[in-house]
Amino acid sequence: MTTRPASQQMKSTFPGSPPPRVIQRKCTRCGLCLTVCPANVFEIHNKRIAAVKTQYCIQCGHCGSMCPSNAIVVSSAETKKLSALGPDALPSPRSLQLLLRSRRSVRRYKRKPLTKKDLHTIIEAGRYTATGSNSQNIRYMVVTDPKKIAELREITVPAVMKLFATAAKTASLPFASYLLGDALVDKLKNQYGPGMKLFYERQSRGEDRLFFDAPAIMLVCGDRWDETTGFSCAAALYNCSLKAHTIGVGCCFNGFIQTTVNNNPKIRKWFGIPRSQKCYGAMTLGYQDVQYNRLVKRKQPDVTWF
Ligand SMILES: Cc1cc2nc3c(=O)[nH]c(=O)nc-3n(C[C@H](O)[C@H](O)[C@H](O)COP(=O)(O)O)c2cc1C
Repeated sequence: MTTRPASQQMKSTFPGSPPPRVIQRKCTRCGLCLTVCPANVFEIHNKRIAAVKTQYCIQCGHCGSMCPSNAIVVSSAETKKLSALGPDALPSPRSLQLLLRSRRSVRRYKRKPLTKKDLHTIIEAGRYTATGSNSQNIRYMVVTDPKKIAELREITVPAVMKLFATAAKTASLPFASYLLGDALVDKLKNQYGPGMKLFYERQSRGEDRLFFDAPAIMLVCGDRWDETTGFSCAAALYNCSLKAHTIGVGCCFNGFIQTTVNNNPKIRKWFGIPRSQKCYGAMTLGYQDVQYNRLVKRKQPDVTWF
């Protein structure tokens, strides 16, 4: 018997996704769904567990993917058991750590377009990223047309230079530290300022220090109003970069494009990003034309234990 309380008729947060329902003849009343559902959808009624507050369901699929007796039907959970994939399906801690350590920024790409198939493979990794309230509201923008990349480069370089010139000017004001903070003023004067000069010199000589002649550029955008969007987008892009690494596609995150998209109306318009959204990450991608022969060392993590 399937219980369908009246409230199940209410509109779901995810229109088009049927809300979860409990198959009573399979339910052992273990109560796991009550504990794991982050949206408090399940309730006990007449000693039976029922999906009641389905209007709050975020389609995370926790109920359906955990239920030991397969008593919950929810469209976002696969029917096949994870254990069917075998004990070695997941990477070991060692191989995952190696994947994380061996992913490096790649700034040399083969002069070969990225296939749509590989781009899809990469974006598939972003698809399974955790998102705030399971909103899954990450918007990917992928530029692969060489003419469009050239066009974007053309408008981005002056925008980057303008942005840094303004920042450098501000850093030289007497009250700069008050406005920007000591650390940023120091960076602008001693690192970013001289660095931008070098960047511009090499760019003017015909080198592409902005996109490194990458055959693809990917951006992640999302709604500004949601405080969690930034994290979701960055995590998704990072997952994409890791997946890319496994198929020989190198990536380099790109703060220039991210910053200019968010600060330059012309570039925002070029991408068609509305004011209600923001770019939370960008990267260049291409088949890797360099080999990293050694891993690198990093600082010890700065951890505060309580
Ligand atoms: C948010 C972010 C923005 C970045 N922006 C740029 C960029 O605009 N240009 C660039 O060449 N590298 C950029 N990088 C790459 C960093 O320089 C690089 O991650 C760092 O030096 C560590 O090297 P690794 O990625 O090889 O470990 C960026 C990285 C991050 C995380």
